[in-house]
Amino acid sequence: MRVGRISRAFAAAVGAVILFAAAAADQQGLIDYRKDVMLSMAAHLSALTELLTVDLDLDEDHVEAQATSLGLNAQLVSSLFPPESDQGDTSALPGIWQRPEQFLARAEAAEREGRNLVAAAESGDREFMVQSLSRLADACRNCHREFRFEEED
Ligand code: HEC
Repeated sequence: MRVGRISRAFAAAVGAVILFAAAAADQQGLIDYRKDVMLSMAAHLSALTELLTVDLDLDEDHVEAQATSLGLNAQLVSSLFPPESDQGDTSALPGIWQRPEQFLARAEAAEREGRNLVAAAESGDREFMVQSLSRLADACRNCHREFRFEEED
């Protein structure tokens, strides 16, 4: 059964984490986690854009949940790139660690809009939300253009 398989895999993964907790931080594990956070932001961004642009006949809880999830994850960006996470199966460019101030400025732009999105979700201010979402999408693109090895977004 699907759920059983997932929970067994989850239990195995948690077991592995507990077993190796004393060892050095898992670099590829951090990179994989970083990609998952990025992918989750991309999914929340699409979901929120759909909610704001198409009449889906869903209540405000959906808007609030997608905006809050995206906003909270966006506030984690600067902590996803510790120095030892530059090697492995990654599209992160070396500039991240060579020009940390520029990179941090890009990350902070995303984090700022993440905070704004959460605030917009709490207040229910649609206009503020749309503006924050648009500025956050710019922040994603601006960072990728400079610091991610990838032709398209
Ligand atoms: C400060 C820089 C920065 C910001 C801001 C940023 N990203 Fe990223 N993103 C990266 C880097 C670097 C990678 C490559 C990560 C890797 O391969 O280790 C990446 C990878 C990705 C990926 C590919 C993940 C994969 O499976 O390989 C997606 C999708 C993504 N980002 C979406 C987003 C979205 C959506 C936002 C905005 C809400 C965003 N990113 C904000 C730097 C950033």
